[in-house]
Amino acid sequence: METLTTQRLLLRPFKLSDAADEFEFASLEEVGFNAGFKPHVTIEDSEKIIATFIAQDEVWAIEHKETGKVIGSIGLHPDSLRKDLNTKEIGYVLSPKFQKQGLMLEAVLAVIDFAFNKQNLSLLAANHFSFNESSKRVILKAGFNYDGVIRRARCLYEGTKVDLMIYSLDKKKYFNKKEKE
Ligand SMILES: CC(C)(COP(=O)(O)OP(=O)(O)OC[C@H]1O[C@@H](n2cnc3c(N)ncnc32)[C@H](O)[C@@H]1OP(=O)(O)O)[C@@H](O)C(=O)NCCC(=O)NCCS
Repeated sequence: METLTTQRLLLRPFKLSDAADEFEFASLEEVGFNAGFKPHVTIEDSEKIIATFIAQDEVWAIEHKETGKVIGSIGLHPDSLRKDLNTKEIGYVLSPKFQKQGLMLEAVLAVIDFAFNKQNLSLLAANHFSFNESSKRVILKAGFNYDGVIRRARCLYEGTKVDLMIYSLDKKKYFNKKEKE
């Protein structure tokens, strides 16, 4: 997959050697809880998920240029709510140590640009659990429109059903807004 460069980040393919960096944040309860996965218990858990990322070829490692560390991940996944193959769903995770600096918004904007200009997608989807205010802010700042809520649409890793807030960004609207800027 293509490497994308932003001011402070490299979005690049994962390597198995990123497992220690991945484990640092993916083992944290707050990260897994908000993103919907069971926190990693051992470094092998991180290696396994990285092997899946490499095989699926739809998730970038977010490398922080200044420190050289992998501080998160961002992906363009098959849209879980639409059959239209020309749409994808964006998903992301950022290490708490690197939050509140605008880094995820920077990554999301680069991925949106790639999705519409290089992959020629017609629509992007983004979703978050109803309690995830940080993700909501990233999604809205990136220009997505709120489409609604699907009650009890997802399960937390321990089984609790949660409401899913759903958003989309239409390619035409995205380019119209860009032209006006
Ligand atoms: C969701 C998540 C990525 C958001 O991280 P974040 O650090 O809040 O997001 P950003 O990197 O875009 O930073 C935005 C914050 O940085 C602040 N900030 C500081 N400098 C900034 C800059 N130069 N540019 C933009 N924002 C800046 C903003 O004020 C903003 O804070 P606010 O939302 O309180 O106003 C993160 O909380 C996370 O990974 N959580 C766990 C997993 C998860 O929830 N994944 C998403 C599942 S849907």
